[in-house]
Amino acid sequence: MAILRGRDDRSGPELLASEVASQIAEHEKYGGIVPEIASRNHLVYAPRLLNSTAKASKIDLSDVDTFAATSGPGLASSLMVGASIAKGLAIGFGKPYLAINHLEGHLLSPFFSGADGEAGIRPNVSLIVSGGHTMLVRVHALCDYQVIGRTVDDAAGEAFDKVAKMLGLAYPGGPEIEKLARGGDPNRFDLPRSILGSENFSFSGLKTAVRYLLPKIVGRFYEPRKHRVLTETPYKLDERVLSDLCASFQQAIIDVLVTKTIATAQKYDVDLVTISGGVSCNQELRRQLHEACSRNGFEFKNAEPSLCTDNAVMIAFAALLRLLAGFESKVTEEIDPNLGLV
Ligand code: KG4
Ligand code: ZN
Repeated sequence: MAILRGRDDRSGPELLASEVASQIAEHEKYGGIVPEIASRNHLVYAPRLLNSTAKASKIDLSDVDTFAATSGPGLASSLMVGASIAKGLAIGFGKPYLAINHLEGHLLSPFFSGADGEAGIRPNVSLIVSGGHTMLVRVHALCDYQVIGRTVDDAAGEAFDKVAKMLGLAYPGGPEIEKLARGGDPNRFDLPRSILGSENFSFSGLKTAVRYLLPKIVGRFYEPRKHRVLTETPYKLDERVLSDLCASFQQAIIDVLVTKTIATAQKYDVDLVTISGGVSCNQELRRQLHEACSRNGFEFKNAEPSLCTDNAVMIAFAALLRLLAGFESKVTEEIDPNLGLV
């Protein structure tokens, strides 16, 4: 939960308070998010979080101008809890309610430390890479978006998580693979870079390639179905091999993301490239995309790491920008688990 205050001098919004109740430890043993556990936990944690965030912000909730919540895309049962609380506060205090698209929250997050007005959002090509989405978006202005490409199967973060699971690594898999990839040889294993000529993405072939490579590396048959809940690697991989495999897999994803982002920025002749979403925490991806942008004459902006993975600040920021630009939504607005960006 987060509380922001816009500033008159356009120096960027002031973050009054942001509190997180992480559930990762409770979902980790299942290797992914369990919707029922997530929504039950939201019901327990959200009221406490509301109290502690309000206290930390040192303002009274009755002084808040607008209440906002994510309306989708996402898990219905979790969206419902957040939206119900924000709508209740809006009705109770007689203030407007703003329904915010989760993807727009990610997409705007690289601008958080910049300007606080609509004018701060410049035309750009935006790469959103998370556990649920991989998208290239042409941003014309606030609320004026055109989706150029999206994944036709797995999202990049999903591929990180699934491959990590095959390797017996903890959830979420992205940070684990990134750690192991450090110092590994990204050229040791030849993994596919799928549909490079298309504006869309596909990562399921890469995941399958790792799946078929594993038994060859360990020299015996590998049965993933026997290892649904992995607490340890189903076979022992030599540390060097594991590190090289993680580096090769990570590089395959980075090559695809960088190639397509630069091609899209060139095609639409923008001067700014932005990146957001959980996978954009990956330092190697940021470094390589930044370098490619510099080589090709594009400015590069990424969100700070705490704003890359799902967070309330990016939703509050999107709400603040929408509020300043005069957008409204009604408390009758429904959540939509499959909400698109446009
Ligand atoms: O944006 P996010 O928090 O949630 C969704 O909207 O999906 O993204 C979570 C995803 C997970 O798949 C996680 O493995 C991935 O982001 N991720 C990373 C890294 N940190 C988080 N992937 C690669 N490298 C990282 N350092
Ligand atoms: Zn997200």
